[in-house]
Formats: sequence, C-alpha cells, structure tokens
Amino acid sequence: MKKLFGLLGYPVGHSLSPLMHNQMFQLLDFDGYYHAFDVEPSQLENAVEGARALQMQGFNVTIPHKVTIMDYLDMVDEEAQEIGAVNTVVMKDGQLFGSNTDGQGYLESLMDVVTTPFPTHDVLIIGAGGAARAIGTVLKREKVRSITIANRTLAKAEEFSGVLESSETSCSALSLKEAEQQLERFSVIINTTSVGMSPRVDDMPLSLERLSRETVVSDLIYNPLETKFLREAKQKGAKTVDGLGMFVNQGALAFELWTGLRPDREKMRRCVLEQLGG
Ligand code: ATR
Repeated sequence: MKKLFGLLGYPVGHSLSPLMHNQMFQLLDFDGYYHAFDVEPSQLENAVEGARALQMQGFNVTIPHKVTIMDYLDMVDEEAQEIGAVNTVVMKDGQLFGSNTDGQGYLESLMDVVTTPFPTHDVLIIGAGGAARAIGTVLKREKVRSITIANRTLAKAEEFSGVLESSETSCSALSLKEAEQQLERFSVIINTTSVGMSPRVDDMPLSLERLSRETVVSDLIYNPLETKFLREAKQKGAKTVDGLGMFVNQGALAFELWTGLRPDREKMRRCVLEQLGG
C-alpha cells in the first residue's frame, strides 16, 4: 500500500515540496505519496489526530504551525526543543516524533562555500524570527566564534542573543544601522528576513557598502534565486550562498528520516529550479 506523507501549513498552495518529494519517491522506486494540506490554525490538533488515524508515515510542518505543533506530538528531539520549532514529524510505532531539519539543512548548504573551521568565524544573522533561531542554534552547536543578531526590532535581537550565548560563542545584538556600519568585521552574513523576496525584489535588508570581499553572504530567499542582496555582494567580490540549498537540504534530511533512503540532492535542486523557471 502507498505510504502517505505530507505538509501541514497555511497557506501551502505554492509549496514546491510535493513536487520535490514525489519526484524523489519515483526516482528511488519508493511507494510513497506527498500531499500539501491547508490546515487552518484552529484545525491543527484535529489534523494531527487525522494524520495518526490515516497512518501517515511522516509530514513536514510549515508556517504558521512550526511552534504550536509541538503540543500535539509524543516526542520532540533535543535540537528542535532548543530551536523551539519542529518542521519534520516521523511516525514510528504509532508515535509521532518531531525534529527540525532547517538548521542542519542550512549548515550543509553553507559548508559548500565555507571551508575553514567554524570556530574561526564571526557571523551576522539578520532577523530574529524562526529561521534565525534554527540557524543560530546549529551555528552555536558548531561553536562559531561569535554570533551577532541584527534586527529591525532590537528587543527581539537582544532576547535571542541572550538565549544563544555560550562559553564558546559570544553573542550580541545590533540595530540594522549599527550592523551596516560594522559590516567588514563579519566573515559570514545571513539574511533570514523576507526582505528582497518577490515581488519586492529591489529591497535589501541592509546596505552592503562596507562589505569585505572576504565575507560569505547568504540569503534564505530562493524566489528570486539571486536577490538584490546577493547580486550586490557578488559585485563586491564576495562569495554567496542562495536559499535553494537550505530548502533542498531540509527536504532531503526529512526524506531520509522518513524512508532511510538518501535522495540525490542535485536532482532535487534541478527539480525545484525547473519549477521556479530557472
Ligand atoms: P521566519 O520564521 O521566516 O524567520 P518570522 O518569525 O516572522 O519569520 O521572522 C521574520 C523576521 O524578519 C523578523 O526578524 C522580522 O523583524 P521584526 O522582528 O522587526 O518583525 C524580519 N522582517 C520582516 N520584514 C521586515 C522588514 N520589512 N524589514 C526588516 N525586517 C523585517
């Protein structure tokens, strides 16, 4: 019998996950089917009970359910607890286990470009929401030298940097303006906000005027694949990492948790790119 997988979010109409996962099922000859379910916030608990009743083998969770889903699961692993959000749920012996593959997925895409040891890096994270939390948590695990959070709402950056602080990673918070003025001291800069996403493609989260060409600049946005932020960074001679790597890797890691199979990430990337029209 076909094994059922899916995505719970609201809205999910434009999600590229069904296409990506269904193509991998086909390529790996795995008898599975992945469907995107629009689940209104008030229906999340019912949807999870439905997933149990239908014996779904696993599902992804996206906005706005990544935090509230944790109330309805049997177990949440340590990293997802630290991040405070779940994006992947696995059904094992009738029990639902929550994980988070966003941070690790991002890290693996960064490692394609950053080849020097993490403890030598000073990282600037722009934004202090869910995506920033997932990435900050794995960068702390990798013991980067410092993490600076810059956010429009400074209080949120301060709160998050306080949570991240550890003996190996020093953390601080800045306004976007302050970060702009100190840009040359960061070896990695990551935009986790939606600033620059289609259709507002001429927006940038902050000015790159003081960017050093030694810095790696990365954007979680993958629509467009090359944001204005990345385009300007490239023009200044910096290396860049686009958001498609994180999207593909978080999906590949979820796929592995569900099936035990390793999908071909390059094929997954091409499948999504085709859909994006690139
Ligand atoms: P996600 O889960 O994708 O991280 P989120 O939790 O809603 O989404 O967080 C969005 C982040 O983008 C926040 O840090 C937000 O800044 P505020 O804390 O000030 O709201 C940031 N953000 C969103 N739109 C922005 C904009 N137009 N300019 C600057 N920052 C923005």
